[in-house]
Parts: sequence; structure tokens; C-alpha cells
Amino acid sequence: SRHYAIVPAAGTGSRMGAAQPKQYLPLLGRPLIHHALSVLCAAPEIDAVFVVLSVDDREWARHDWSGLGPKLKPLFCGGATRADSVLGGLRAIAHEAEQSDWVLVHDAARPCLAPWHVDKLTRELAHDEVGGLLAVPVADTLKRADHHRHVVETVARDSLWQAQTPQMFRYVMLRRALEGARNVTDEASAIEAAGLRPRLVQGDATNLKVTYPLDLHLAEWILQNREG
Ligand code: CTP
Ligand code: MG
Repeated sequence: SRHYAIVPAAGTGSRMGAAQPKQYLPLLGRPLIHHALSVLCAAPEIDAVFVVLSVDDREWARHDWSGLGPKLKPLFCGGATRADSVLGGLRAIAHEAEQSDWVLVHDAARPCLAPWHVDKLTRELAHDEVGGLLAVPVADTLKRADHHRHVVETVARDSLWQAQTPQMFRYVMLRRALEGARNVTDEASAIEAAGLRPRLVQGDATNLKVTYPLDLHLAEWILQNREG
């Protein structure tokens, strides 16, 4: 079965507070999204990389993506939420995807994706019934608070993981799960809501999501200090 990447990139980056959506902010001389796209396009196990852009995206056409090769395909079918954008992408590739093909969904806002992340995820899930996601064990002690910010509970962290992307599921399973899901912030929760159990594949903290301005500095540092 084939592997398709879908990269949702139709968000506005409101928490970043920049003049343009964060996926296009410059990061080491390239648009932020270029870093992850280049890793996905270069991954031997991935057959095509679909970028889901906003229907009124004005920025994509201003950059040169030709260096990323023929696997890269923009789709102008973004939706109101991340889940809608991913679902739009899944619908748009329906004519070429087989039911059992794998789909790897990766946030445009995670520029520090490394080749070994993709490699480990696809290898560990290759024979899995359901699929799964990259994740890292939670390091901090977590508190649940009430509306007055009084701690009501300390949550045992030993079984808690932070979800990352890529998240990898079978085309038909993911599409059905997202079509039936409401208010999910990642693919895995849609799969869980459908009664299935995604598997966690341990990644590392370098695969951070750029959400706030500080994250952009961290991402720059990570990319600059990476070996090889
Ligand atoms: N995304 C998308 N379509 C949306 C919302 C988000 O494709 N309607 C994408 C973003 O472009 C990003 C990824 O989903 O690559 C993760 O979302 P997030 O970090 O929340 O990005 P934004 O929604 O753009 O940022 P914010 O929530 O701060 O506005
Ligand atoms: Mg968002």
C-alpha cells in the first residue's frame, strides 16, 4: 500500500500574532512550511505530499517550490478548522487513494520534522491494524484547576503523552472517523471516538509545533544545531 502525506496549512496563526500566517514566516531563509515539506518529499516511503491551503491563500504562489520535486501537490480546499482542512484534503485525493493506503497527516507548523521521525513512525506502524502517531512522554507535573485557579487535582503523569504529528492511519478509516467526528484537534482523537486505539510511537521534543513567537526561536535553534 502507498503512503500519502497531507499537510494542513490553512490556518491563520492567530496565537502567533504575526502579519502573515505562521506557515509562511521566514525560518533560516525559507518559508517555515518548506522545512517539513522538504523532509516529507525526500522520504523514500512517501509517494505524494498534499498541502491543504486556504481557498483564498495568496502566499503559496509567491514562493518557488520546484526544488521539492514532483511529489508535492497544493490543494486549495482548506476548511474552518484543522479537521475540516484534513477532511477536505482526503476528499480531494479520493480518486487516487485506495482504501488501505496510509495517510500521514503532518502540521505545517512543525518545521523540525526529521527524516528519522518519518522513518520510525512508518516502520513501527507498518503492520498495525489501526495506525498511530508520534508522541513524547509528559515531563511536567500536571494540575487540574477550577475556575478560580485552585488546584483540584494533580494528574499522574506516568501514563500521559503529548501528541505530535505525523499521525498515520488508513485512508478509509481516517476519512470515516473525521466525517463522524466533532471538535477534534487531531486525527487520533477522531479514530478514538470511532472506538479504535491508535498506537503511540515515541518521538522527541525537537518536533515542536510553532504556536507562539518563542517557538520560532526554538525551531531556528533546533534546525541550526541538528547533526547531519
Ligand atoms: N490548520 C488548517 N486549517 C485550519 C486551522 C489550522 O489547515 N482551519 C492547520 C494550521 O495551518 C497548522 C495546523 O493546522 O499547520 C495546526 O494548527 P494550529 O497550530 O492551531 O495553527 P493555526 O490554527 O494557524 O494557529 P492558531 O490556532 O494560533 O490560530
Ligand atoms: Mg488553530
